[in-house]
Amino acid sequence: RLENNRKMTEINREAANFFYRCLTSRSNKGFEYLKSRGWKKKTIQQFGIGFAPDQWDALLKHLTSKGYETQLAHQAGLITKGKTKDTYYDRFRKRLMFPIFNSRGEIVGFGGRVIDTEDQPKYLNSPETSLFNKRKLLYGLNLARVHVRESGSILVTEGYTDVISLHEKGYGNAVATLGTSLTADHVHLLSRYTKLAILCFDSDSAGSSAVLRSIDLFAKTDLKIKILTLPEGTDPDQYIRRKGQRAFESLITEAPTSVEYQINLIRKKHSLATVEGKIHFAREVTQILSKLKSAVEREAYAARLAEEMGISKTALLSEVKSSGFRLG
Ligand code: GTP
Ligand code: MN
Ligand code: MN
Ligand code: MN
Ligand code: MN
Repeated sequence: RLENNRKMTEINREAANFFYRCLTSRSNKGFEYLKSRGWKKKTIQQFGIGFAPDQWDALLKHLTSKGYETQLAHQAGLITKGKTKDTYYDRFRKRLMFPIFNSRGEIVGFGGRVIDTEDQPKYLNSPETSLFNKRKLLYGLNLARVHVRESGSILVTEGYTDVISLHEKGYGNAVATLGTSLTADHVHLLSRYTKLAILCFDSDSAGSSAVLRSIDLFAKTDLKIKILTLPEGTDPDQYIRRKGQRAFESLITEAPTSVEYQINLIRKKHSLATVEGKIHFAREVTQILSKLKSAVEREAYAARLAEEMGISKTALLSEVKSSGFRLG
């Protein structure tokens, strides 16, 4: 098993080298597309970005010429079995290729992006193998580790391209999930490196529901989170390229904790100008506060909220009791 995993990372490495040479050694559509993303040569090298040519068996031929067995290439998910017996073709064709590294820096899979908008699906990943488990891997973690230790936090995004642009603009502590939402395994992995995760998901409806699911997931751990909100319809890659590092830095500074984030959502639902609004607001915020483990934190929020509502802290706390929630 271990020996087999080693062989798979080796063939993946060979494939990544091939894709990299295809991208850089001749003019091609992949390189044209890559230019439009505006990354520096150094960044492209660091992430090992490549291009899978628009051919059926360019990689297979290359691997065969290097002495690799078809069986191994198939097992690693680099080639796909055709309909007729014993025919194989390249899984990734005419795609920009992002090698996916584990935290030890071995290549365990690939994500491939279309370069023509009409092609589908937009991203194609390697199939699950004994090495490639999307629910456990975080893209960019191999490079981010050292920066996470330095900065004391990790930036969690949704996409490969978010990680790449953030690293290029000075946020080497950025990682991404691989198209799945954040799992308990991911959170456990994060907790090995840091105490603070800054969620930086796309500002769209998928991103917002991912935030809510993640809040629940982190609530079960000792990790703190902050939730960075981008302007509607943008993602970290677009934002940092358009607005720059300083603008992004102020979004980090302003990012609310998960409690503040949830209170902000409640604030949007209920007006504090009416008694009715105050009652609903009080019930919902106290429900959030009742889940906090730290009494100090709970009291501090209660005091702040009571002041905002123009009532006493005692009144707010009694609302908790009368609505059946336990506080303190
Ligand atoms: P760009 O459009 O290249 O900037 O990528 P993006 O990361 O902004 O894409 P998007 O926000 O649409 O999706 C976020 C992540 O979800 C991607 O990085 C992929 O990992 C994954 N994803 C997106 N589309 C697909 C798809 O069609 N298939 C699969 N398997 N994953 C996808
Ligand atoms: Mn770095
Ligand atoms: Mn999105
Ligand atoms: Mn994007
Ligand atoms: Mn996106």
